[in-house]
Amino acid sequence: MPRHFLTGLELSASELHALLDRALELKAAPHASRALEGRSVALLFEKPSTRTRLSYEVGIAELGGHPVILRPGEMQLSRGESIGDTARILSRHVHAVGVRTGPDAELEALAAEGSIPVFNMLTAGHHPSQAIADLLTLREAFPDRALSELKLAYVGDGNNVARSLALLGGLAGVEVAVAAPPGYELEPEAGGTRTHDPAEAVAGAHALYADVWVSMGDEATADERRRALAPYRLDDALLDHAAPGAIALHCLPAHPGEEITAEVLYGERQRIWDQAENRRHAQKALLEWLLDEGGS
Ligand code: CP
Repeated sequence: MPRHFLTGLELSASELHALLDRALELKAAPHASRALEGRSVALLFEKPSTRTRLSYEVGIAELGGHPVILRPGEMQLSRGESIGDTARILSRHVHAVGVRTGPDAELEALAAEGSIPVFNMLTAGHHPSQAIADLLTLREAFPDRALSELKLAYVGDGNNVARSLALLGGLAGVEVAVAAPPGYELEPEAGGTRTHDPAEAVAGAHALYADVWVSMGDEATADERRRALAPYRLDDALLDHAAPGAIALHCLPAHPGEEITAEVLYGERQRIWDQAENRRHAQKALLEWLLDEGGS
């Protein structure tokens, strides 16, 4: 059975910690691994991307592999070919496939009907490729502390990014608190603590995390979202309520003046641009794990 990475919970806690250790090694020596030599990896983008595409495409090349970018509009998928048949064809030509799409069910169908590893590059429900880079950034920013000694506070919409942080942060031992307005809460099953009060969530936190207020697909409710989320802006005042030395994180793209101020986004207390770079290093470690021939 191939390994998959659909929600991230396919990893055990020890595998997640080992992946982060490996990502740090790969960051220090980006060309040290040729784990994908002679292998091709398809990257199927049904939605726009800057960071995910760059980090996976360049990361696969650094590992000696060949990335194949696919867009549904250029495939027979757009003319009604089934996901199952697409999965069967992908399985005959490439060694793994990453997917950015809306419905999680589409990703699950590809995994169920193909015979190669499938990894999530963002769905409506989850963004685990982002979460492993976020955990790597915490490891780097707090080298003298275990992840289990850290608290991360997410402020904003209880969306796919918040869910993956709660799930994978919880797996890694990070205390995750989510502050979201009424109607935008994360479900309790994702784990972590939940509140409507940003100041309560950030108390004692080592990292504060923001995401866009209007995600892809939410454009029709943009005004309503901006009104509801306005008290959840990540600014210097909110950082001042956190633990001394707290850092600001954001998965990007950012809208300075909305969910985060320009002062924080480009300021001394952010690790956001390192976090964006860490996508590549964490995902290279993920690809090694997914394609490990000794894996189950
Ligand atoms: N954070 C993130 O997934 O960025 P992109 O949408 O640019 O890939």
